[in-house]
Amino acid sequence: MPDPLQNPNRERFDMIASGWDASPRRQELAAAVAEAIAVSVPLQPHWQALEYGCGTGLVGARLAPLLHRLLATDISPGMLSVLAEKARDAGLRNVETRPLDLTRDPPPADRFDLVFSSMTLHHIPDVPALFRVFNGMIQPGGWIAVADLDAEDGTFHDAGVQGVAHHGFDRAVVAEWLRDAGFADIAVRAAHTVEKTRGNGLKRRYPVFLATARRDA
Ligand SMILES: C[S@@+](CC[C@H](N)C(=O)[O-])C[C@H]1O[C@@H](n2cnc3c(N)ncnc32)[C@H](O)[C@@H]1O
Repeated sequence: MPDPLQNPNRERFDMIASGWDASPRRQELAAAVAEAIAVSVPLQPHWQALEYGCGTGLVGARLAPLLHRLLATDISPGMLSVLAEKARDAGLRNVETRPLDLTRDPPPADRFDLVFSSMTLHHIPDVPALFRVFNGMIQPGGWIAVADLDAEDGTFHDAGVQGVAHHGFDRAVVAEWLRDAGFADIAVRAAHTVEKTRGNGLKRRYPVFLATARRDA
């Protein structure tokens, strides 16, 4: 009997975890987002970072070598175990994985120099509330970096996919939510464009933004 309180994202991502990294499209997107973060945020080797909705770590594993410690969190134990195995194989000893759903769970007690997230916001119904939680998890003067789809027409995900709360975002609205949550120095830039061939054989392009900001010192 399925748990009615269970987030559909957990079950869906658990099911697709083992094949997630096989997609060149996902690899390219993650490489572009990691590069955009590394260019936009002055990463430091002593920094403690948290990734929210890390999946199999396609973004986080690229940034971990530039950081002291990465706490990689996700709602899906299946995605996290793929990342844990990859980190072990790659000798990435500064990556720790932890199940976390900030729409239900309390935030970790630690404070971070950076919280980042890629392609997870569109699964979160109340993004302004999540930004307020992120703000409380970041050291004064620390950074947030979030990447997701620009507003789209609902065709990015196949019809019937559960757990999609937003068809992308208006960049100005994301900036306003960040400001309201207590962030300053807000910048939003293009990070990548995902190309998908839809059912009718037509290619569709879905731009992805990266928003960065700092917690007020
Ligand atoms: C589209 S995937 C992106 C994964 C990874 N960031 C990447 O770029 O490959 C979205 C991820 O968000 C996670 N997720 C969905 N809802 C979540 C929630 N409420 N809390 C934490 N993670 C969540 C999913 O399990 C999944 O790993």
